[in-house]
Amino acid sequence: MSAKTINVALIGQKFMGRAHSNAYLKAPRFFDLPVNPVMHTIIARDLSSLKKFADRWGWANATTDWREAINHPEIGLVDVTTPNNKHKEFVLEALKAGKHVACEKPLAATLDDAREMRDAAKKAKRCKTFVWYNYRRVPAVATAYQLAREGRLGRIYHVRAYYLQGWASSPDIPLIWRFDKEQAGSGSLGDLGAHVIDMVRFVTGDEVEEIVGSISETFIKERTIPSGVGGAGIASGAKAGGKKGKVTVDDAVHAIGRMKQGGIFSVEATRFATGDENKHGFEINGEKGSVFFNFEDLNNLYYYDATLPVHVRGWTKIQTSVPGVHPYQAAYWPTAHPGGYEHAFVNQAADMMRVLGGEKPEIPLPDFDDAFETQRVLEAIELSAKQQAPVKLSTVK
Ligand SMILES: NC(=O)c1ccc[n+]([C@@H]2O[C@H](COP(=O)([O-])OP(=O)(O)OC[C@H]3O[C@@H](n4cnc5c(N)ncnc54)[C@H](O)[C@@H]3O)[C@@H](O)[C@H]2O)c1
Repeated sequence: MSAKTINVALIGQKFMGRAHSNAYLKAPRFFDLPVNPVMHTIIARDLSSLKKFADRWGWANATTDWREAINHPEIGLVDVTTPNNKHKEFVLEALKAGKHVACEKPLAATLDDAREMRDAAKKAKRCKTFVWYNYRRVPAVATAYQLAREGRLGRIYHVRAYYLQGWASSPDIPLIWRFDKEQAGSGSLGDLGAHVIDMVRFVTGDEVEEIVGSISETFIKERTIPSGVGGAGIASGAKAGGKKGKVTVDDAVHAIGRMKQGGIFSVEATRFATGDENKHGFEINGEKGSVFFNFEDLNNLYYYDATLPVHVRGWTKIQTSVPGVHPYQAAYWPTAHPGGYEHAFVNQAADMMRVLGGEKPEIPLPDFDDAFETQRVLEAIELSAKQQAPVKLSTVK
């Protein structure tokens, strides 16, 4: 363990609150880092459950007073895991107080909020910002990034990106915050599409030029308002009450477009893909090779090398778990003892500590500037669906 530490204040104690707590707990155990995170304060609205949460995960303090906690002189990094419309207020307060900030994705519920957060981050020159587009740090995705940087894909022709979940196809799922435009900004688009759009930008190193067309649909228009504390998440097992409310976001979205370097792409995000639990990834076809990734098979990257002699060509399954060869794996277990969902979060926490220690991680971390670009793509997809017309990214600022 290194001598330097940074005190973390984490806001939110449900799905992502747990994932990030685990990441801060594990990162300094598995990795040798220039700075180690100290789990100083957990912040949320319900003090009794929060105290239990703090004990379970090892947070030294638990509080409902977010303003005091963010401004506490001992805090160095503020991490925000609240619903999308609740990112901005906490983030702006933290940047004003001179703290480094990590924020969940998408950066915000609206492009306006995201822009304000990005601009505040630019002004707060001493503060580092991070956004939890954690799938970049799944070793198979990081390997795809490396193969692209090695020139193994060549000129990119096609990108097929998808994030398919099926849980919302049941009308019994209550009206949680994810179905509310004010809190979430958008539905499957910001919840799921944001991840694959980030992955595509990251792996290809290219940007979206234009959304040529987009279609979105809300299949179930009303759901039962959950009883209890407003807006509990799917991971919290919200119980349905009686009264119904409107679903104000997309249940599914499809978009097609053009990348700046000439490739064409499609992206699909849905929470109504019955039978698909968490099928998300991409297939990228280039002049020299292709890569295919599906999170339901997260330890493997499929690679097609089109430069090989024809008689040995074919898709190769690369099990990305070789220590010292595949990104992050030297920190964990021997070859073929693969990782799971939580490892990408641990890897991200480790890389954030590297940045805070003045190091440059091998796999780039998205900051607010970077996440704002993904937010512009989300906005363009929404606009295109609404206007039933193409939208050039240059018009979305
Ligand atoms: N990176 C990923 O893979 C990933 C996965 C899921 C969710 N997310 C993102 O994480 C964020 C949270 O999602 P989640 O699934 O953890 O949601 P959740 O509903 O499980 O948890 C949200 C937490 O925020 C708290 N909260 C809500 N309003 C608050 C307020 N006004 N003040 C203080 N706390 C408040 C809730 O009490 C809860 O603890 C969202 O931005 C979501 O898009 C990211």
